[in-house]
Amino acid sequence: MTRKKLPGTPREPRGGSVDAPGKKHRPPLEPGPKAAEFETAFAAYQGARHGILMMNGTVTMEVALKALGIGWGDEVVVPALTFVATAYAPMAAGALPVIVDVEPRTWTIDLDQVEAAVTPRTKAIMPVHLGQQMADMDRLMEIAARHGIAVVEDCAHAHGQRWSGRESRSMTHGVRCGDEDGG
Ligand SMILES: Cc1ncc(COP(=O)(O)O)c(C=O)c1O
Repeated sequence: MTRKKLPGTPREPRGGSVDAPGKKHRPPLEPGPKAAEFETAFAAYQGARHGILMMNGTVTMEVALKALGIGWGDEVVVPALTFVATAYAPMAAGALPVIVDVEPRTWTIDLDQVEAAVTPRTKAIMPVHLGQQMADMDRLMEIAARHGIAVVEDCAHAHGQRWSGRESRSMTHGVRCGDEDGG
């Protein structure tokens, strides 16, 4: 197949956007050394063994759910008070978001309602640590363990946040998801 050159197409690949400025001849979609450096540094900051740069928080949560094998016919419990991405991610994976209310005191997911919402189809709970206010991770992890379901934390507002002196991510048998800008 011959490729027709579009008008205005650069003759050489430009430097990758995730690499240091001024570096040339790197294909645009290939992460450079700065990306790997950031992944390592951010994982260490979070107390995680691994860190992988992703495009945004929404896609990260979708990929996390898919990586856990969650899809069509499955249910994922999410809080009502959050950004739309928390409910969109299960839908993008093919699963049904089951929306429960938040606690009036903390505005995080109401765990009595989580208990009531769990069915044999429930495969994950997605707490949102809203505005750095963490959900009650002790009780949430106990509920998840009792029912054998995963926890995928929406950490878009909770970088560096701790629960009982530990990084929240390190307590999950799921995945911690967040944006680099905290948004
Ligand atoms: C609570 C929450 N979760 C997820 C997201 C999604 O992040 P992104 O916009 O990077 O897809 C946001 C974004 O504002 C958010 O506030």
